Amino acid sequence: MASGSTTAVFADFAPQLQSAIGTALENYCRFPEECPAKLAEAIRYALLAPGKRMRPILTLLAAEACGASHEAAMPAACAVEMVHTYSLVHDDLPAMDDDDLRRGQATCHKKFGEGLAILAGDALLTLAFETVAQNIRPAEVAAVCCVELAGAAGARGMVGGQADDLSAGQTAGGALGVLESIHRRKTGAMFRAAMRMGGVVGGASPAALESLDEFGACLGLSFQIVDDLLDVSGDSAEVGKRVQKDADRGKLTFPALLGVDESRRQAEQFIEQAVGALENVATRPSVGVDRLESIARYVLERNR
Ligand code: IPE
Ligand code: IPE
Ligand code: MG
Ligand code: MG
Ligand code: MG
Repeated sequence: MASGSTTAVFADFAPQLQSAIGTALENYCRFPEECPAKLAEAIRYALLAPGKRMRPILTLLAAEACGASHEAAMPAACAVEMVHTYSLVHDDLPAMDDDDLRRGQATCHKKFGEGLAILAGDALLTLAFETVAQNIRPAEVAAVCCVELAGAAGARGMVGGQADDLSAGQTAGGALGVLESIHRRKTGAMFRAAMRMGGVVGGASPAALESLDEFGACLGLSFQIVDDLLDVSGDSAEVGKRVQKDADRGKLTFPALLGVDESRRQAEQFIEQAVGALENVATRPSVGVDRLESIARYVLERNR
């Protein structure tokens, strides 16, 4: 660790944040009667399932590190979780990764059918932007958050990374640069947006925003490397999804390319880089920055 000064422990502070995020998400998905009941059920099933809420936690802590309240950042935090959840629902579809277990329960399409799962994902994506536009104030800050989220989620970011992930196994020829680029987009982009939106709500200076961005990029990359490792050696009951599927699907992953030990070393290196970026965010001591550093450590230790 670059600093080693942190006293925050993720396992101690996460439950309270996860619970606050869960309550806020619940409030944002109470649908009026014109929403078909089955669609509302499918959206709530996917969104309110016990995810780790990593991205919204990052948004809250980035805002906190810049001196803003969790309350002010909560709509942006919920929006990033809505986009993330839509990406999981679609990622699990037969046309993509074809999975039947997610967050410890049947995948959305297994429970509600493919058509409704696709539509639940569509609705989550649009709900995210409605949530930001309607609830972040002032309106200029909401507009900047919408641009951040759209850029990260779209063709240049997460969706682009997912598109290349679909064909990478066949075409990449094992290139590490291609793999890193996929992981930076399919997972890193949303981590960056989570951090940047927190910074924007907190009125971060351009330099602080750059540091938050760098932290998110490195953390996201490391997070996806660890996700690849959990597919190799994780326990399905703990992870809440099937494991040992990437190799069968011919996925281009870090362990497939570099082996388990070197992949872990790479994940550790990106975490060190992430923690290093925090040095520029705020004058220490800062609870928000300490908590961000503890999340970075958690990413390496996590088993779900
Ligand atoms: C899973 O994300 C997909 C990846 C980008 C690796 P998470 O591991 O954050 O999944 P949840 O939200 O906790 O279910
Ligand atoms: C998914 O990566 C990244 C997304 C943008 C959803 P994976 O396909 O490895 O995620 P899991 O393992 O299914 O959660
Ligand atoms: Mg996938
Ligand atoms: Mg998948
Ligand atoms: Mg995976």
